[in-house]
Amino acid sequence: MTPDLHPWAADLYDLYAQVWTRLVRGVRDRRAPMRHPTLATVTPDGKPQARTVVLRAADKTTGTLDIHTDLQSSKVADLRATPFAVLHVWDTGAHLQMRLEATVTILTGPDVAALWAGVPDASRQSYGSLPAPGQPIQQALDYAK
Ligand SMILES: Cc1cc2nc3c(=O)[nH]c(=O)nc-3n(C[C@H](O)[C@H](O)[C@H](O)COP(=O)(O)O)c2cc1C
Repeated sequence: MTPDLHPWAADLYDLYAQVWTRLVRGVRDRRAPMRHPTLATVTPDGKPQARTVVLRAADKTTGTLDIHTDLQSSKVADLRATPFAVLHVWDTGAHLQMRLEATVTILTGPDVAALWAGVPDASRQSYGSLPAPGQPIQQALDYAK
């Protein structure tokens, strides 16, 4: 239900609802812009970093977004040092830029056992590669899944 607000505030309320609608659509629809946000972090030595990720869950009630990644990846080291991130998306169709500031919690082990059980085998191959993601390799396929 929309609360009784000034017209401009009601617009902001609508905009907020619209953003969450688009986030949830990104989780369900592979072709939705919010499916592939850019996740920006800060490295332990203070440099900005950004990369594409897949949005795996979005919950308006709790205000949480889920992303899956490899614990070995640089972004995890960044987020352990500075647990804040920005997710960015330009939604061309809606002419809407979304810049989502987030406080990040890294969940692993028993905390995500049920979630991991639901990740298909093919998708699991994306995590735990050797060498770790972001490490230099001599040839394009010099890694093991
Ligand atoms: C379309 C696309 C989707 C991606 N999705 C993810 C993802 O969901 N999680 C992830 O860790 N990396 C994902 N990646 C790879 C990252 O962009 C990045 O290259 C990798 O995670 C290493 O980043 P880091 O070294 O900054 O941690 C994706 C890349 C592309 C091109």
